[in-house]
Amino acid sequence: MRLACTLFTLIAICVHAPAGLHAAAPARVSFQRDVAPILRTMCISCHNGAEAKGRFDLTSAKTAFARGEDGTRIVAGSSSASLLFTRLKDGSMPPEGKMPRPSIRDVAVLSRWIDQGARWPRSLTIDRYDVTTDRWAGRDWWSLQPITRPISPSAASSRSTGPVDRFIEARLAKHGLEPNPPATRRTFL
Ligand code: HEC
Repeated sequence: MRLACTLFTLIAICVHAPAGLHAAAPARVSFQRDVAPILRTMCISCHNGAEAKGRFDLTSAKTAFARGEDGTRIVAGSSSASLLFTRLKDGSMPPEGKMPRPSIRDVAVLSRWIDQGARWPRSLTIDRYDVTTDRWAGRDWWSLQPITRPISPSAASSRSTGPVDRFIEARLAKHGLEPNPPATRRTFL
């Protein structure tokens, strides 16, 4: 009886394990939520507009699914037949040394998106000016952010008089540095 019970338990675990694993896998990939942010931060700086590198413009569904010299780069339903995926898998995109690079999870998301049919809502375009690159300032550029009042670090010493000084002192302390003593009025001039 005991053996039968153990066997039963084992079978139960085996039968349920795959289902459990399946449940752990992320649900359906959403283009807007999962895919667009990856393309926007890691690909669009080179793959946009008429001058797109490799003549591969990833800013809209129309251009992304257009045929390239070596055929379609995104074959809906088959990541292994898609150049977009094979170039990510072999690490040749983004080109060597170019940052940021997709993580293993990002690559998995893109592959799953293609395998699930590569749905890209027609109305959804990716704007290259959403992100800052080494060539242009995007909407995330610091000077375009709304003004907020930062909380100034608490005074580290009695020397700090104004809030700006406190920021400087906090940074100096972080690097184990001491501020110079206050200059005399003559030196200051
Ligand atoms: C720093 C610029 C740069 C970035 C960033 C970049 N690429 Fe590229 N990409 C290129 C250049 C240059 C080529 C053309 C030369 C080649 O095929 O290696 C190219 C070609 C490609 C091609 C082949 C197109 C064809 O039809 O031959 C694919 C697919 C591709 N890139 C995908 C991506 C993806 C996906 C990303 C983002 C994860 C990305 N690239 C990021 C510069 C870039």
